[in-house]
Amino acid sequence: MQRSPSQCTSGAVFGINKPMLEIPAIRADFPILTKTMRGKPLVYLDNGATSLKPECVLDAERAYYTDLGANIHRGVYEFSEQATVAYDAVRAQTEAFIHAPDDGHAIFTKSTTESINLVAYGWALKHLKSGDEIVITEIEHHSNFVPWQAVAERTGAVVRFAPVAEDGTLEPGGFERTLTAKTRLVAITAMSNVTGYIPPVSEIVAAAHAVGALVLVDGAQYVSHHPVDVAEWGCDFLAFSAHKMCGPTGVGVLYARENVLDSMDPFLFGGDMILKVKKEGTTYAPVPAKFEAGTPNIAGVIGFGAALSYLSNLGLKEIAAHEKELLAYAYERIGSIPGVIVYGPADLANRGGIFSFNIDDVHPHDVGTILDREGIAVRAGFHCAQPLMRVFGVFGTVRASFYVYNTREEIDLLAAGVDAVREIFV
Ligand code: ALA
Repeated sequence: MQRSPSQCTSGAVFGINKPMLEIPAIRADFPILTKTMRGKPLVYLDNGATSLKPECVLDAERAYYTDLGANIHRGVYEFSEQATVAYDAVRAQTEAFIHAPDDGHAIFTKSTTESINLVAYGWALKHLKSGDEIVITEIEHHSNFVPWQAVAERTGAVVRFAPVAEDGTLEPGGFERTLTAKTRLVAITAMSNVTGYIPPVSEIVAAAHAVGALVLVDGAQYVSHHPVDVAEWGCDFLAFSAHKMCGPTGVGVLYARENVLDSMDPFLFGGDMILKVKKEGTTYAPVPAKFEAGTPNIAGVIGFGAALSYLSNLGLKEIAAHEKELLAYAYERIGSIPGVIVYGPADLANRGGIFSFNIDDVHPHDVGTILDREGIAVRAGFHCAQPLMRVFGVFGTVRASFYVYNTREEIDLLAAGVDAVREIFV
């Protein structure tokens, strides 16, 4: 059945006092949830890696190919103009979704990783010099860690680390103690992809700005699950990906304000990012075009627009609350099983819906393999976060990461899977 994007959201039911999520109706929006894996009904708990896609997102992508098909910003014919309007409308929608100020822009990239690399190439390589300091933490995903090491190697800047406690939280006041007059950039995740820990972003931004540093927030795990107001955070850059928020793969976003973007160099050069090209030299287009050389992922961006509408209709606050409830239930149901070690702060106040654990000394890949046999998809390993694994003193963990369509029953199935692992290995 073909459904238009506006027909997709069947899951927001408005009660007397507050909207409630109607999870069975939401699940019906996701065709893949009717599938079996290894002959069992799919239990998809790997949303930290990528989310599933609702029908309306698939329809929106398909509609671009079937109804428009044309490239953007180039043609003077109707279908090209319509494709351009549809693509640029998603940019405005993205900016509204994160409450960007009037001079804030969303640049489309291919991923969070590319967005962070755009800052590394376009801002850091241009502005940093020997002795400057970049402050990061050991809780970062490799994509917000390795680029800064590479920048430091090339510029002579120094990477410093705000201290992390044993439970994977930031030490109170640790950022303030690490920042100096030489700090030029702070790069911090808004939510750990391993534990779901949510650092105090606004406080970190205020402390960084007090020493004159800019702040990049890696929102890959956070933006898909929580309301975001970049003006409230006050951050200078925000990077995130469509595919973790019900959108297509191959679309990332970098948010920054116009004066910051104006001070950056592009790192991809070619068509659509220029004003004038002459033998003697080239002048670049103003932002955002300056950073979007080449034909972008037009279908993906249009699909992303449908995903943003879908999430907004459900309500980000409601999504976050649902996932928090699932996390609390996972602690109760699985955290109490003998031999299960759960990582991250025990206080769930500053946690998103990620439950990372080990079972005694069973290798996480063995756990993942047994769970797979039960139709349960989790991530097992070091989660692109080796420095944090060292803080925990483990090789890896098993990670169940929740989204709006997950249920308590699925956590019961995960608990049964954990019991199955224990029967075999413990
Ligand atoms: N960054 C994604 C994860 O943490 C792939 O699983």
